[in-house]
Amino acid sequence: MVHQVFVLSLFLDVAMGCVFSLPEDRLVTVDRAPTTRDTSFIDKMKKTGKNIVVFYGSQTGTAEEFSNRLAKDAHRYGMKGMAADPEEYDLSELSRMGEIDNSLAIFCLATYGEGDPTDNAQDFYDWLQEADADFSGLKYTVFALGNKTYEHYNAMGKYVDKRLEELGAQRIFDLGMGDDDGNLEEDFVSWREQFWPAVCEHFGVEATGEESSIRQYELKVHTDLNMNKVYTGELGRLKSFENQKPPFDSKNPFLAPVTVNRKLNKGGERHLMHLELDITGSKIRYESGDHVAVYPINDTAMVNKIGELLAVDLDTVISLNNLDEESNKKHPFPCPTTYRTALTHYLDITNSPRTNVLYELAQYASDPKDQENMRKMASSSAEGKAQYQSWVLDSCRNIVAILEDLPSLRPPIDHLCELLPRLQARYYSISSSSKVRYPPT
Ligand SMILES: Cc1cc2nc3c(=O)[nH]c(=O)nc-3n(C[C@H](O)[C@H](O)[C@H](O)COP(=O)(O)OP(=O)(O)OC[C@H]3O[C@@H](n4cnc5c(N)ncnc54)[C@H](O)[C@@H]3O)c2cc1C
Ligand SMILES: Cc1cc2nc3c(=O)[nH]c(=O)nc-3n(C[C@H](O)[C@H](O)[C@H](O)COP(=O)(O)O)c2cc1C
Repeated sequence: MVHQVFVLSLFLDVAMGCVFSLPEDRLVTVDRAPTTRDTSFIDKMKKTGKNIVVFYGSQTGTAEEFSNRLAKDAHRYGMKGMAADPEEYDLSELSRMGEIDNSLAIFCLATYGEGDPTDNAQDFYDWLQEADADFSGLKYTVFALGNKTYEHYNAMGKYVDKRLEELGAQRIFDLGMGDDDGNLEEDFVSWREQFWPAVCEHFGVEATGEESSIRQYELKVHTDLNMNKVYTGELGRLKSFENQKPPFDSKNPFLAPVTVNRKLNKGGERHLMHLELDITGSKIRYESGDHVAVYPINDTAMVNKIGELLAVDLDTVISLNNLDEESNKKHPFPCPTTYRTALTHYLDITNSPRTNVLYELAQYASDPKDQENMRKMASSSAEGKAQYQSWVLDSCRNIVAILEDLPSLRPPIDHLCELLPRLQARYYSISSSSKVRYPPT
């Protein structure tokens, strides 16, 4: 097993009957902007010279990551983009998009539940259903994220695409659909490859040919920080694991001791476990069918290997600070922290990296052959896609294996930490009844 169980937390969500109540970036509550923040994305776009806004409806970070990639892409076409959480802005301002030259709104929207929006897109969805707005000045496109095995495949993306048109907005490129049961990354890359030329044609602009990568965060190394102020794996409040205080939720999980851990089946490929968690003193209540979250931590040997390969002291205390001071997301994960904590608790180092990670890292390969191969795998050419599929996906190559197999590739660790996706909690449905009281252990 690649992941080890670190803590078990039990928390409930009433709204959707699941724990997906907060997108990743909102877990870092201490770093959020004050609630009096400006909700006008139009003002922000004008102030920062942006003409493209990419709104994301995301629960586990994929749509948010795609939005960041699209916002970065804009640079290559001489435009300026920003990714935005719909929950933080007044989306009725979409009717004012015409005030900005060559403006475009892109929506990357995931679907959950019975074809429902993500939590952070719920208000937008509710508002859109009732809206009586004039969107004639709005140019838009939608990329939907879903999974074909669900009955309401990509329902949210399809709905927004149709509804914006009904309200008079101009679709400048066809709805894209990504299937997480297939190859979501390839669906996205293929859609994006046709989308940008369509944008160029629409606005009469040309690619600048500038393929250089743009950093979103800058590194700050702390040399004299009190270690009590350094995150050690907490998701929200500093020291929340040492000093457990209710109410418990996904920002502030209750760390439930595992009192029984028994394998249920003998033989066979499946691994069925019976687990009992002690929630004494937590005041948490649950129903059968709610779920617990397991927060995994990465294997120490893998983390150490990254430090070794990149020749860095993993205990260096750092912050990655957003270069866009206007952004509400100040850091990619709780900061200040150490590289060791980031690679152990906050970043996914075991899944195969997406193509954008290969693309961005390619610049650090000193062997031109490695550089060329990495760029090819990140490209939309048939050969590149096939190579990515076999060398990365089919071979389950994670970032450690890639660094080992490409000795010329030695990126700065802070850039690597910026690029890797966040490590996600794993959810497990509760099968026991809340009505039966187990003897305290
Ligand atoms: C609401 C909800 C409720 C759920 N309830 C349950 C439930 O009751 N029971 C249940 O079992 N699940 C449940 N799930 C699913 C569960 O959350 C996990 O997704 C599931 O257990 C898989 O997690 P994993 O970490 O084992 O696998 P993954 O998330 O797929 O991680 C496996 C890791 O191993 C790596 N890997 C895979 N193959 C190789 C290889 N050959 N070589 C090297 N590395 C490899 C991968 O890259 C990856 O990093 C639920 C999910 C949700 C959303
Ligand atoms: C609990 C759960 C429910 C989901 N429900 C749907 C659904 O109804 N329709 C659909 O097309 N996809 C559904 N999906 C798939 C997600 O939309 C897809 O994995 C998407 O890439 C997630 O994006 P995110 O990481 O930005 O949240 C569901 C996924 C989960 C885990």
